[in-house]
Amino acid sequence: MNVQKALILGGKSGLLGQALFHTMGADRWEIICPEKNEVDWFNPALTDEYIQDHKVKFIFNTMAYTQVDQAECDRKNAFKYNAALPSVLGRVCRLRNIYLIHYSTDFVFNGKKSTPYTTRDTPGSRSVYGQTKLEGEKALLAEPWEKLLIIRTAWLFGPFKTNFVDKIINLAKDKDNLNVVHDQVGSPTYTLDLASHSLRLVDKGTSGVFHLVNKGRASWCELASESIRCAGLSCRVTPVTSSEYPQKAPRPAYSVLDCSKFSMVTGSTPRSWIQALREYIYHYQESRN
Ligand SMILES: NC(=O)c1ccc[n+]([C@@H]2O[C@H](COP(=O)([O-])OP(=O)(O)OC[C@H]3O[C@@H](n4cnc5c(N)ncnc54)[C@H](OP(=O)(O)O)[C@@H]3O)[C@@H](O)[C@H]2O)c1
Repeated sequence: MNVQKALILGGKSGLLGQALFHTMGADRWEIICPEKNEVDWFNPALTDEYIQDHKVKFIFNTMAYTQVDQAECDRKNAFKYNAALPSVLGRVCRLRNIYLIHYSTDFVFNGKKSTPYTTRDTPGSRSVYGQTKLEGEKALLAEPWEKLLIIRTAWLFGPFKTNFVDKIINLAKDKDNLNVVHDQVGSPTYTLDLASHSLRLVDKGTSGVFHLVNKGRASWCELASESIRCAGLSCRVTPVTSSEYPQKAPRPAYSVLDCSKFSMVTGSTPRSWIQALREYIYHYQESRN
């Protein structure tokens, strides 16, 4: 079997990075997951030296400034991780003909549509997080090469790092009622599904921008209710509006992603988020109890 050497940025501690590590570890990959500060990734010469020394052929970049609200008053750092970092990686990967798989977000869209966003839709975000992620995409696409893959995903849940579903289940164990926002609708996505589907795109040698999420749509309120139901808990979920639950960063009211480009290229369709959620809760949450 042909072993391929990949670097996963964010693979040591990130929600998606660890899912990629788990999925790829069971396959034909030889993986390197450096500590967050092991290398100065913002320095092109040092990054280049590291990937040359380690004979890296693929880079999966999941490292990002993901604290959406905090980013509103920390644009400098959000820009650094979400835009400057991909720009450096792009330069080095283009020069060395390395396959770069970079993750982006549904939050690049303004949320004004009411049908799923395709890769042909024009992005435009009102939050610093969304804007800086979009700047990262643009930096990469300014000089695209045939081994650049940008995967926009959304609303991640999965093992290895606390996420929305875990938080809801933990709260529901102690409370009779939870108020959860119902006027934001998106595409809940299981990190392990995202990891294996990402590899399908890589196996096909795909380049360009793709949307990759589980099938279906949900509000945060629906995702919370379904999580509580799957976990066998009885906590009530009360729908509230975004204005009743103010957050620093504006979120898109609607950010469902259309994966038809992914399906056309790979011939496969991600399963529904409800099926994936059940698997996550039965396999991973049960083992924690
Ligand atoms: N999570 C979602 O719902 C979601 C939705 C759409 C798109 N995405 C995209 O998917 C990719 C992976 O997301 P994820 O949820 O797996 O990310 P994550 O778990 O929050 O973090 C990924 C990596 O980035 C580092 N990181 C996060 N915030 C940082 C900061 N302020 N300064 C420095 N390093 C920071 C993390 O280090 P630490 O673990 O030490 O913080 C980790 O190594 C990102 O590109 C994200 O934009 C995520």
